[in-house]
Amino acid sequence: MFTLSQLLDLINAYLSEELEHDRSPRNLYEPVNYVLAVGGKRIRPVLLMMAYNLYKDDVSNVLSCATAIEMYHNYTLLHDDLMDRADMRRGKKTVHRVWGDNTAILSGDAMLVLAYQYICSSNPEHLKEILDLFSFTALQICEGQQLDMDFELRCDVTENEYIEMIRLKTAVLLAASLKIGAILGGGSKKDSDLLYNVGLYTGLAFQLKDDLLDVYGDPVVFGKKNGGDILCNKKTFLLIKSLEIADDHQSFELNKWINASSYIPEEKIIAVKNIYDEIEIKGLCEKKISFYYEKALDSLSKITPIAQRRERLEDLIRVLMLREV
Ligand code: IPE
Ligand code: IPE
Ligand code: MG
Ligand code: MG
Ligand code: MG
Repeated sequence: MFTLSQLLDLINAYLSEELEHDRSPRNLYEPVNYVLAVGGKRIRPVLLMMAYNLYKDDVSNVLSCATAIEMYHNYTLLHDDLMDRADMRRGKKTVHRVWGDNTAILSGDAMLVLAYQYICSSNPEHLKEILDLFSFTALQICEGQQLDMDFELRCDVTENEYIEMIRLKTAVLLAASLKIGAILGGGSKKDSDLLYNVGLYTGLAFQLKDDLLDVYGDPVVFGKKNGGDILCNKKTFLLIKSLEIADDHQSFELNKWINASSYIPEEKIIAVKNIYDEIEIKGLCEKKISFYYEKALDSLSKITPIAQRRERLEDLIRVLMLREV
């Protein structure tokens, strides 16, 4: 059975080797190497490999599929940073800030195609099933990203709508990573569906934490600038819940900042964060995060492999619960 750090070493070594391919034109592929080489937590490929490792030990057989998921994830980040006007990721300038918008679009497109190439070299016995799941998931992510943008313009987004939006934009990829790993490993239908749910709940908690870190994280550790969501009027759990429980004065202030057309960015971030602090929204969000992680652990406890086999996955979920990165 592989440990988290062994799996990370495997995926990182495989990725570095793949990035050595000399492809041209260079300015199309340079951003691909740039974004993949600066790291990231590699959660999705690790989830895939851990799910596979519940059933089989030859994890090197799924490295290409795990790479597909990581490649795809990084493609979404290139386009997401463009849509969110984000300057920093993983402590470095975002691709569109270094090479411009058009390169971020085109290099992102190339990464999507590369992801499909990697997934296609998976075991032919399961290829159709995992390709269908992957494509279905990729479309759901587009739907989630569209909702995320649509919600920027609305002030009446409900908590349920938010959960559905983050299920689509974030949770389904973690869920599909686990399910694909289980399918390739030969797990039962019941197990692979349970693992899908483990990924969904983990993903919901993961995005809630991402929203929290966007406001309260240490930018040096988190690698992204604070307050990006506030500046875009993103309807995060923090904002939706604050609007719901704010008193008249807080509600007036929040709406004033949401509707302001010209402002100093730093002032808006500080003012909104002050209201969040008054409302003590951080604690509420943390409770919600724990709620979903517990649901993830509960689904995980129901799968067939013995407790010892499940341990690595349980540990990873607990690590994610405490993450500051
Ligand atoms: C960032 O994902 C995008 C979200 C879904 C919140 P990660 O937090 O997994 O990003 P990296 O790959 O570790 O940088
Ligand atoms: C990310 O949501 C969702 C996808 C990339 C599909 P965010 O916009 O919150 O992610 P970060 O904070 O930029 O990583
Ligand atoms: Mg976004
Ligand atoms: Mg973003
Ligand atoms: Mg975010």
